[in-house]
Amino acid sequence: RYEKIWLSFGILSLILFLTIIGINAFGQNHTPAGGMMTIDPKKVDQTPPFDHPGVVKLDDNRYQVAIVGMAFGYKPSQIRVPAGKEIIFKVTSADVTHSFTIIHTKVNMMAVPGQINTKSYTFQKPGKYLILCNEYCGSGHQFMQTEIEVY
Ligand code: CUA
Repeated sequence: RYEKIWLSFGILSLILFLTIIGINAFGQNHTPAGGMMTIDPKKVDQTPPFDHPGVVKLDDNRYQVAIVGMAFGYKPSQIRVPAGKEIIFKVTSADVTHSFTIIHTKVNMMAVPGQINTKSYTFQKPGKYLILCNEYCGSGHQFMQTEIEVY
């Protein structure tokens, strides 16, 4: 008789456990308060806009740039955007936490697996700007950099 009780208890616990996992999984698909967007880090290359990383013109005044950080670089490696237009950077990571930091600008974002971080910036002057990873991400961290060309 005791075995039966323990067995039921075990099954109940299992059901409870699975329900909690289910609720958590469901919660992952919602945008939490604060506007942070989530993404499945294993499906970054299948999830818009990161399935086609790079620059997209939204309208005459706005451009969107989707960037994927990964050890130890950025996708795409070449970025060209116009000066004097609003550039909306959307950043995520395909592996560990990196940063997307454009030197001498206010753009300094974490690139976090499972998250999409957004920052809007307007470059006033054409030129080349250095992009660095400021977040230690492994043995190649100090080589993780690229350039953005503003025309
Ligand atoms: Cu990526 Cu440090």
